[in-house]
Amino acid sequence: MDRELGNPGALMTSLLRLGPADAGEMLTLQRAAYVTEAQAHGTLELPPLLETLEQAKGALGDPACFAWGIREAGRLVASVRIVVDGDAGLVGRLVVAPDRQGHGLGGSLLLAAEAAMPPSVTVFRLFTGERSFGPLRMYPKLGYVETRRTPELHYQVVHFEKPRVRPEDPVR
Ligand SMILES: CC(C)(COP(=O)(O)OP(=O)(O)OC[C@H]1O[C@@H](n2cnc3c(N)ncnc32)[C@H](O)[C@@H]1OP(=O)(O)O)[C@@H](O)C(=O)NCCC(=O)NCCS
Repeated sequence: MDRELGNPGALMTSLLRLGPADAGEMLTLQRAAYVTEAQAHGTLELPPLLETLEQAKGALGDPACFAWGIREAGRLVASVRIVVDGDAGLVGRLVVAPDRQGHGLGGSLLLAAEAAMPPSVTVFRLFTGERSFGPLRMYPKLGYVETRRTPELHYQVVHFEKPRVRPEDPVR
């Protein structure tokens, strides 16, 4: 796929809603993608690496959880979850297969997933680790603003927020 960062429309046709039947594949992808984050933070005790298959199935079956993915020739190469919590969409577990990173999939998937969320969601929130240099560079490019840092074991968690902007909203 061509690099389409900032152009979620190009991805909307290939955006898939994932469910419990996709949990095994999603977990395999998630574990492969998060190894670099574990190395960067010096710990394997990261929730995405500790998640069990049963927990993943439960998450993907939760009506509040919207899991989205991209398949290339049938293979799941990217996924993200957005959990609806009141008017907020809590973004988590954005992952791209290691051999497909750096081609615009992660950024495009997140923008397309945001656009596909129910209209009740008016703000998106997410967090990442202070040594996750790729995500720390990516989220501001996608409109996210850092709101605070909180301590976690021996590193800081960086929190981001982004108000939802719809095409019909007036330009400020
Ligand atoms: C983070 C992740 C989802 C990004 O997916 P991706 O498809 O590689 O990202 P994209 O190609 O869409 O990149 C979008 C932007 O993010 C930034 N970025 C992403 N990964 C980067 C990296 N490793 N180094 C530097 N910048 C990076 C860049 O700014 C890039 O835009 P640019 O090339 O125009 O500068 C992917 O690298 C991944 O799965 N990482 C491991 C899991 C993880 O950390 N998930 C996020 C947890 S908060």
